[in-house]
Formats: sequence, C-alpha cells, structure tokens
Amino acid sequence: MANFSKKRRNFLRNAIAAGAGLWFLQKFFAPVPAAKTLLARVPMDSVPGRGALVYRQQRFALIREEGTVYVLSLVCTHLGCTLSVTPKGLSCPCHGSVFDRFGVVLKGPADKDLPRLELQQQGKDWLIYG
Ligand code: FES
Repeated sequence: MANFSKKRRNFLRNAIAAGAGLWFLQKFFAPVPAAKTLLARVPMDSVPGRGALVYRQQRFALIREEGTVYVLSLVCTHLGCTLSVTPKGLSCPCHGSVFDRFGVVLKGPADKDLPRLELQQQGKDWLIYG
C-alpha cells in the first residue's frame, strides 16, 4: 500500500515536472510574430475612384477596383525586384514576370501571387501595414 502511494506521488511529481518543462520550452522557443510596421497613412479621398496609388519607395500599391480597396505588395515573388504598375497590371523589369491587377501571376518565372498588405481604416485615413 505504501509502495503504491509512493509510486503515485512519483508519477504526479514527474508529470508536473514534464508539464512545467513543456511550458518552459513553448514559452521560450515558440516563434514570436513579427511586429507590423506602419508603412503609410493615406487620406481616403486621395484614392482614385478606380485605379491605383503607387508608393514605389515603400513598394506597395493602394488599389480601388470594383468598389473594393486593397493593397498589393510591389515586391516580385520571384527574386524581389520592385514591380512596375501599368494600366493592364504589374510587370517585373528584372525577369519579365507579369501579374494582373489583383496580384495573380499571369506569366513567370514568378510562381506565387503577390501578397496583400494589411489595410485598416482610421477616421478618414487608410493605414497600411507591412
Ligand atoms: S525578380 Fe521579378 S521576375 Fe525575377
């Protein structure tokens, strides 16, 4: 009986130590989400009714299309060159990839669509985070 009680105490002690160890490992080795950076504050009325505002230095385009506003990264998904915005879409001057105005790859070598950046409304401004 005393032996059973001792085994149970050891089991509980080991289980608690293992749980604490897992918590410790998770706390210090879990990936930390990257902090978002405010790239720009854009007055809402400066966005054209249809078209794009291009911010080449920050490498994004704020686009209004069919009543929707979104932000596309202008970083080519092939090797990272800055894309050029044309009336038909986006093209890469480095190796010739082409994307439509929604960021979908039309022609390689890029094989991934352009990511959209986070857009938040604050008062009469758009806040763009990257
Ligand atoms: S970097 Fe754009 S196609 Fe290669």
